[in-house]
Formats: sequence, structure tokens, C-alpha cells
Amino acid sequence: MCGIVGYTGPQSAVVPLIEGLRRLEYRGYDSAGIALGTPGTLFIEKRAGKLVNLEESFDESLPVVHSGIGHTRWATHGGPTDRNAHPHVDNEGKLAVIHNGIIENYSALKAELQSRGHTFKSETDTESVAHLLSDLRKEHKGDLTAAMRAAVKLLRGSFTLLAIHADAPDVIVGVRRNSPLVVGLGKGENFMASDVAAFIEYTKRAVELGQDEVVTITPQGILITDLEGKAVAPKEYEISWSAEAAQKGGFTHFMLKEIFEQPKAVADTLIGRLSDNNQIVLDEIRMSSAEIKDLKKILVIACGTAYHAGMIAKYAIEKWAKIPVEVEIASEFRYRDPIINKSTLVIAISQSGETMDTLMAIRHAKSAGARVLAICNTNSSTIPRESDAVLYTHAGPEIAVASTKAFLTQVIAVYLIGLHLAQVRGVMKDSQVAQLYYEMLELPGKIEQILETVEPLRTLTRSFAQSESVLFLGRNIGYPVALEGALKLKELAYMHAEGFAGGELKHGPIALIDKGTPVIAILPSSHEHALDEKMLSNIQEVKARGARVIVIAQESDEVVGAEHIIRIPRASAIFQPILATVPLQVFAYEMAICRGNDVDQPRNLAKSVTVE
Ligand code: G6P
Repeated sequence: MCGIVGYTGPQSAVVPLIEGLRRLEYRGYDSAGIALGTPGTLFIEKRAGKLVNLEESFDESLPVVHSGIGHTRWATHGGPTDRNAHPHVDNEGKLAVIHNGIIENYSALKAELQSRGHTFKSETDTESVAHLLSDLRKEHKGDLTAAMRAAVKLLRGSFTLLAIHADAPDVIVGVRRNSPLVVGLGKGENFMASDVAAFIEYTKRAVELGQDEVVTITPQGILITDLEGKAVAPKEYEISWSAEAAQKGGFTHFMLKEIFEQPKAVADTLIGRLSDNNQIVLDEIRMSSAEIKDLKKILVIACGTAYHAGMIAKYAIEKWAKIPVEVEIASEFRYRDPIINKSTLVIAISQSGETMDTLMAIRHAKSAGARVLAICNTNSSTIPRESDAVLYTHAGPEIAVASTKAFLTQVIAVYLIGLHLAQVRGVMKDSQVAQLYYEMLELPGKIEQILETVEPLRTLTRSFAQSESVLFLGRNIGYPVALEGALKLKELAYMHAEGFAGGELKHGPIALIDKGTPVIAILPSSHEHALDEKMLSNIQEVKARGARVIVIAQESDEVVGAEHIIRIPRASAIFQPILATVPLQVFAYEMAICRGNDVDQPRNLAKSVTVE
């Protein structure tokens, strides 16, 4: 939550700052603001609402200077107003601060600072840091870096902070604790940001920061220190994502582009995972055969869409590897006393690698003695760094708030893990594993086929635009798909949407069916078990009560009772989520358009949720 960017170098700072904020807007868009390093007094401009409001406020008074900091906000403390927008400044307007996270002890700090004569102008927790830093900088003879180290020792909570002072405007100081911050190394210019997407256009060289590390950047270089002032060697890495990947590339929305990138994302995540002797290659999970054979339980933790990928993991891993799997919402998990030991593997799934609920759950699991394997899409983010091992998905940057391609690749990752564990534990033959892997290799082509034929679905969706609510039904591995379809619709169309297990319908939810209620049913494949018949009965039950039923069914499966049928290519039942999810994404996308909603930045949401 909240996007942060800092720049110092030869360019007019407003250019990389605004460009960076545009790419970080997925992290929050309640307000945006910048502080430019004008000598004497900083130039501050901030506006409630999206970045465009800030840009529209610029006039000829905008100074051309060469350093600054910028912020895009997802409001926590204080409503989304101009006043609460970041940056926040000290009494003299010489020191500005931007923040991502929550300062938990801000009210005590605020009271103390007010008693020392500081005047507060906002309701935010952040403003207390601006005043605190201002005092500490004076105590440290104008050294902003030393002041930041001292300030952090007094702060509780999670935060990334950037600060700039008008007396040395080309120096920007940052720090992180439980929130993301990366440094971009340019030629004669340097950057800081919540995410590499902010500066990817200018440099591919990045430096990751550890917990409680303070970084000072100038055009000439960077200095990283711990809280005692001891220098820390920079950990540099090369950014593999291209600048174009973080742009819309001719699509009207990032979400649509990302939906259409799914065949490639799935293929990239699968590629090279089968050796010549039919072994699934997953060296990254860093577990010996003995450790895999010793596993007694797997616990999957995740939030939102990633949680639905976790539910699919349960079906796949239990089916193939015969290991019990529990799946839990990360924010609930950490408040339990889970039964965990060295024979438990925790799999944490996160696109961003920064979700605070998931991160806290990982720490909880590790403290209880579990080994943690992350499935993540974002290189060098916090969750992989804190896990024992990481399997990266190769979806490329996902910018739209509602997750699409990252979800499909997470599902592929859990399939690969399931097959690998099954193979090492000797419960599946190499030939069976290889056959399933080859079947997975056909999935990208099948997704393409679905995407080539979505126009009728888009037309159909429009006919439901006035509906009040939509229900989704699934059974077995189609159940998480139903939940994901409902989540997408809530996020994007702001409609009441619920996903149910088909069999559970009669135990309560059927009361929701009224004349004309749209129901989308994911029909299990008829080839593997008789579940399709049970779903067809569920369809009759809702139809008898007036529902308008849309069925997602595999080619040539018999469907009775549907007003509309959306056909998807044939695949083994276990792989059906990869195909059945795609029309549901398109349905939610189109519905959002019909209802005039902002597809890429739906209201009240943020893509990377770094608060609990
Ligand atoms: C937020 C987003 C969801 C996402 C969830 C988990 O709530 O709005 O789309 O699924 O976070 O994010 P992660 O980055 O951990 O996968």
C-alpha cells in the first residue's frame, strides 16, 4: 500500500517522479504528491484522488530542479484529502517525508512533539515522523542520515520512509522495516522506490535493502548503513523485467493485456521443468529426497486470489503426492497455534511478495519450526527473502490490481510442486508424471483458443450488467474457480458475488436465488467422475427457482438446463482451473467496463497490501 519514489540526478526531477508514480499507482490511488528539492524551502504539491489530479495542478510555477520524492497513497490514518496526502513537512517547510506503512506509536510521538511546539496539519501517522526528523536533524548537526537512524529507533510499526531537506536537496534518505524499498543505480543519477517498476525505464541495476537499513542517495552514489551507522555492502542485482512489460502495449487496460499474456506466462513458468529422464526439475525448492520423503503435512498460506491458488494446491498435492494439505488465509493463520514441526512444509503464495498478512504468517510458521517455500512473482521481494526457498512464477510484472496471469502461474507452480513431491516420494511413475507435464505444455495453446473466442462472452456479459448479484457454483477443483470468479466480479464490478460449492447450495445459499439471478456454473469434466451429473442437478435446482444459468463446460460435455454455454477445450479435470478461470476473468472485466468502473484501479483496493 502506497507507492514511494525518490530521485536525484541530472533530470528535471518531476519527470522520473511522475513516471515512477504512474507505475506505482497500483499500490494505492487515494492521493498523490511530490516534494521537489528547491533550495531554501521545498516545493510541495499534493492532491486527493488519482495521480492525474496532481498533474493537472502543475503550472508554470513548477520548478525545474534535480531531486525530489513522490508518493501515491492508500489511506490508513486520515481520509483521502489534500491535507492528508503525502509528503508531510516540518514547521519550517524545509524537511519533507513520505511513508508507506503504519507508525503504531504515532499518537504518543505526536503529543510529545506538539508539547515541543510542533504544529500538525494532517490526521496522518506520517506527519509525526516529519516533525521528529526535523528535531533529530538539528541534534545531529544537519545530518539527515544520522537523524533517520535515530528516528527509526523511536518508531514502532511497519514503514518505508523517504526524506529530503532543502539545505542539502540532492541528498535523499530512506529506510525500510517490514515494507518494501529498492534502490535503482543509474549513471550520475540514483533512485529509490517501492518497486523496481518505478525506475525500470532508466536502469536495470537494483540494490535490495535489508530490514532496518538506512540508505542515502546522491547523484554520485549510495551509502547503506545499519541503525548503528555501520556500512552495509550493497546487494546488487539485475532486473529481468523489460520496461515495455510494464506498459499497456496497445491494450485499453493493463488487466486486458495481462489476460492476453496468460498463454506466455503459463508457458514461461512451465518451460524446462522436465529433464531428459522424465524428472520434474525443481532445484529451487532446496529439499533433499530424504526431507521430501519425511514430509508429514503441507500448509498453504496466502491471501485473496493467491489463496484460491492455494486451494487448488490441496487438490493437486493430495491427489498426486498423497501428503495431507491444509490451506489457510494468511491473516487467520498467525493467530492460531498450528501443529507444526520439522516435517511440515509451509507454502506461502504471493504475487507481490510483500503482502503483510502473508509475511507475518511466514514469520509465525518459521518461529514454530516449519520450513517455508514461497511461490512468488516478484524477484527479491520480502517474502522470498524471508523464506527458506522460493519458486518464482514467470508472469512478468502484473500491474492491474485484480490478479489474472499471476494466478494462473501460481496454479502451474503448485502443479509442478505436486508432481515433484509425488515423484520423489515414489507414489507416481515417471511416465505418468511426464504425461501430465506434457499435457500442461498444451495449456498455453488452449488458453489462446479461449481468448480467440471471447467476443460472444463479452456481449453476453453486457446483458447481465443490471443484475444485483451473481452466484458462482463449482465442485471439486471447480470450487476454488467459482470463488475466484466471484472475487474478480466483486473487485471489478462492485457487484454482490458469491462462490459456492455446488453441493452446499441446498444448505442455505439457494435462498438467494430469485427470478433472473445470474448463476455461473463450472461443470466438472464428465470423463473422470460422475460429478458433472451432480452439478447438472444443481443447475436444475437453481433454474427451477428462476435463475438464468451460464455453464462453463468442456467441449462435447453434455449440458442440460443452461441459458448459455461457454465452451473451453478439453483437459484433465485437475487442469481445468487454468482454462475455466479465463472466461470468468473476461466476464468480470467486461462487467466493470459496462458499469463504468475503473478496471485497473478499482475503488478501495490496492494491489500490494503492506498493512495488516
Ligand atoms: C490484494 C489484492 C489481491 C491479491 C492479494 C494478495 O488484496 O487486491 O488481488 O490477490 O492482495 O496479493 P499477493 O501479492 O500476496 O498475491
